[in-house]
Amino acid sequence: MKILNYGSLNIDYTYDVEHFVRDGETISADRMEIFSGGKGLNQSVALSKSGVQVWHGGAVGSSDGEFLVDQLKEAGVYTELIQRISGKTGHAIIQRNPQGGNCILLYGGANQEITREMADKTLEMFGRGDYLILQNEISQMAYIMEKAREKAMKIVMNPSPMNGRIRTYPLEYVDWFILNEVEGADLCGEAEGETLIKRLAERFPQARIVLTLGSRGALCWDGSQVLAQRAYRVEAVDTTAAGDTFTGYFMGGIVQGLSETAALDRAARAASIAVTRPGAAPSIPWKDEVDR
Ligand code: RIB
Repeated sequence: MKILNYGSLNIDYTYDVEHFVRDGETISADRMEIFSGGKGLNQSVALSKSGVQVWHGGAVGSSDGEFLVDQLKEAGVYTELIQRISGKTGHAIIQRNPQGGNCILLYGGANQEITREMADKTLEMFGRGDYLILQNEISQMAYIMEKAREKAMKIVMNPSPMNGRIRTYPLEYVDWFILNEVEGADLCGEAEGETLIKRLAERFPQARIVLTLGSRGALCWDGSQVLAQRAYRVEAVDTTAAGDTFTGYFMGGIVQGLSETAALDRAARAASIAVTRPGAAPSIPWKDEVDR
C-alpha cells in the first residue's frame, strides 16, 4: 500500500504584526521570515515524520521552488513526482500576531497550473488500496478524485481552504474527511461539535470523519460512534500548520494500523508541539519527540 499526497507547495512569507491589517489600513511589520509551507507540503512532512513513506505530487516554478523540494527530501518524503513549470511557485503572505494567530493570503502559482496530463502522470504508479490525500490548494481536484476512484484508491480530503469549488467535487468518493467546524458547517449547515459531526456523518455515510475543534480538541466519527480527543495545553507562538500537522499525523497513525483513539492522541500531541515553534513545515516534530 502506497500513499500519495497530491497538494500545494508554498513559499511562506511570514510577517510579525501587532494586529492584522484592517480595511484601508497600512501597517509595518516588525519582522519578516521565509518558511517552506503549503498545506500539501506541510502534510507530507507530517506524514513522513510520523513514520510512513509518502510520495508528494504537485508543482513548483523551475526558477524559485527548488528549496521546497529539498525540504521535503530532508523530511524523508519521495519527491520524484513533483513537476517543474515555467511560472512562479505558489506563495503565502502570512500575518502573525503576538498571540501566534495568523491571517493568510494565498497566491496559487504553480499549484494552480496542474493539468489533467500532469495529474495522469502523477497517478500512474498508484492503484487499488493506495491512499490519495488531498487539500484544496491545487487545480484539477475533481479530475484527480475521479481518476483515483477509477483506480480504487482510498481518498482522504482536508477541504481547506474552503471555497465554492468544493461543492463541485465528487465528495461521495471520500473515505476520510478531516476538517474544522467552519468547513464542516459550510458543507452541511450551521452547527458545531457533536451535532455537526453527526450531521456530516449522515450527509456522507461512506466516510469516516475527523472534526478539529482548535483548543477544544477534536471529534472522530469512526463509522459507529463519536470519539473525543482533548487538545494539549501549550504556550502558542505560531499556529500556522497546526491543522496540517494534525492531519498528517492522524492519517500516518491510521495507515500504520493505530486505532482511531491512538491516532487522534498522537496527532493532538504533534500539533501541540508544532504551535510552540515558528513557521509552517519547520515547526513539525519527528515521531520520537511526539512519543516522548
Ligand atoms: O496551513 C498552513 C498553510 O496554509 C501555510 O503553510 C500556507 O502556505 C497555506 O497554504
